[in-house]
Amino acid sequence: MISMEAVETKQPEETGEELEELIELKGVTKKFPYDRSFFGYKQSLTAVNDITLKIYPGETLALVGESGCGKTTTGRLILDLEELSGGQITYKGKVRDDFTAEDWQQYRQEVQVIFQDSNSSLNPRKTVKSIIRSALICSGLYRRKDKEKISARIIELLNDVGLRPPEKFMSKYPNELSGGQRQRIGIARALATEPELVVADEPVSALDVSVKSQVLATLQKLQQEKNLAYLFISHELTIVHSVADRIAVMYLGKIVELGTNKNVFEKAIHPYTESLISATPIPNPRETREKERIILKGSVPSPKNPPRGCYFHPRCFYAKDICNEKAPELETIFPGHQVACHFARERMER
Ligand SMILES: Nc1ncnc2c1ncn2[C@@H]1O[C@H](COP(=O)(O)OP(=O)(O)OP(=O)(O)O)[C@@H](O)[C@H]1O
Ligand SMILES: [Mg+2]
Repeated sequence: MISMEAVETKQPEETGEELEELIELKGVTKKFPYDRSFFGYKQSLTAVNDITLKIYPGETLALVGESGCGKTTTGRLILDLEELSGGQITYKGKVRDDFTAEDWQQYRQEVQVIFQDSNSSLNPRKTVKSIIRSALICSGLYRRKDKEKISARIIELLNDVGLRPPEKFMSKYPNELSGGQRQRIGIARALATEPELVVADEPVSALDVSVKSQVLATLQKLQQEKNLAYLFISHELTIVHSVADRIAVMYLGKIVELGTNKNVFEKAIHPYTESLISATPIPNPRETREKERIILKGSVPSPKNPPRGCYFHPRCFYAKDICNEKAPELETIFPGHQVACHFARERMER
């Protein structure tokens, strides 16, 4: 079992340490067309709206927010499973628009994904061995004829993700495994290509509580051993609190607050973040502040028809006239902490 206490954050912007980011999203936007008319697509919704963020090597950046706020779409844009509608993504200092075929091959090898539902992401007709073998061969790191090397690597990967003894799992089919074991196969498959960044989209949400902690502990162990960076997508704030170095809070396609785990949990500035946190039971009593639970008014508006001004203002307990008129920019309030709220400074002093 892992501890549910917040991890020590290693935030480079806060320490003043100059650390080169692994990936940078700048003004990243994704629009989806809908309502097809006779003349073509009439309208579009903005699922991801002008997002700017960096992910550093070896860190866990959590992306949180209510259902439909654009978390998965952001992950899919990074994975190049969706085309950008605007903005750019830079990986290891090179803009993706300028990638050569070799750069793309390296990118696809180094940027991997773990899905929520390994049940549907693992081919039911393939054995565990064959699933991981395909990943190894696709990565270009192994050739089909390297049979012994491939077998040895599969054993190593199964060991790494805690499936022991590995030989027992090689010939199994996904439906012969438990949810936790299947999720571990999904992790082994992602690790097969020796990634540097893993987009983990709700990686433990479908698991039982005890299995959740075990799989999370494995993810954290692998991160330390292999200096992996995670974009950890989750709507479960208790889990985010236990794994994240930094947290980005999304609302209707936009980032409304971005800061270290500690700052976001202890000094949330954006009213939306404050409401989310107030509804989250934190098991560590030292950190459970005297706080009143804030009940948000209404539900998340549709991205097809977002409100004027600040998208959050119709539900905000702090809204004033300006919030209905003008959209706030994501501003740095102090090093390493950014907030998109007209009253961020005033709220910081409260
Ligand atoms: N392929 C698509 N076509 C049209 N709209 C889409 C598509 N994919 C996502 N959307 C819309 O984009 C918005 C963001 O969706 P997304 O799946 O990224 O949200 P999410 O934050 O991952 O939600 P959840 O927590 O439910 O997984 C939603 O309004 C969704 O309906
Ligand atoms: Mg999602």
